[in-house]
Amino acid sequence: MRISSGVPGFDALVDGGLLKDRLYIVSGPPGSGKTTFCSQFVTNGAVDGETTLFLTLHETEAELVSDMGSYEFGFDQAVKSGHVKVLNVFDSEAQRLLSSSSRSSGEFPTNVDNLANQLVAFVESRGVDRLVIDSTMLLEYYFSDDLGALVKFLSTLKRADATVMLISEMTDPTSYTDGHYLAHGVIFMHNYLDSGSMTRGIQIIKMRGTEIDCDIRKVEFTDRGLRVLPDEKVQA
Ligand SMILES: Nc1ncnc2c1ncn2[C@@H]1O[C@H](COP(=O)(O)OP(=O)(O)OP(=O)(O)O)[C@@H](O)[C@H]1O
Ligand SMILES: [Mg+2]
Repeated sequence: MRISSGVPGFDALVDGGLLKDRLYIVSGPPGSGKTTFCSQFVTNGAVDGETTLFLTLHETEAELVSDMGSYEFGFDQAVKSGHVKVLNVFDSEAQRLLSSSSRSSGEFPTNVDNLANQLVAFVESRGVDRLVIDSTMLLEYYFSDDLGALVKFLSTLKRADATVMLISEMTDPTSYTDGHYLAHGVIFMHNYLDSGSMTRGIQIIKMRGTEIDCDIRKVEFTDRGLRVLPDEKVQA
């Protein structure tokens, strides 16, 4: 079954939509639109009555609502309605919610397996349909001594009964990590200087089970958030 990304023009690049309950990585440089893309993704589910979780390392709920509330795609209403739950991992609320959904521990996870298992338990107990994790810096921060952290995290989350978007900050589209191999799909957001002005684009690096358009397609920020122009190619 395919679901809409919530980003106008994007679904046309992936055969009409994203395969449900798969794990996708969204990569790209600073300010390229990763957080906006994923905010539209959770809002789209919320509008259909789905339960969604936006787990963030970077921003508080108030900051995210304020930033995304400057667009008209309805993020703030989705948060108010409770269909989009925003949790900052450093908040005591996140630590309490995550640990209480785990059978094994009452503490914030001390290793990556615990964190991933607690997230999957949370997804199952709450019936979360769409999950965003912003971003993999979270893993580097908490589990810097575990070189296999990303692989463990991804392998567990892939089993979750939810469609997962994991934001990863990679800036060089050719320096792939293990995560890019493990994920079902990889979406790359481009943002580069071209003749003195910023050009934005989006590219599907891979999408298992889906006939894809691999070219870089133009992206615009509008009052309604990100929009993909599926017929307009961008040269890298
Ligand atoms: N109407 C707008 N409202 C808010 N931001 C906008 C708007 N139009 C363009 N932008 C730009 O969008 C960019 C933010 O996009 P977003 O936060 O989704 O990027 P990101 O890839 O998540 O960045 P980071 O890696 O820093 O987290 C900002 O640089 C901002 O200037
Ligand atoms: Mg961001």
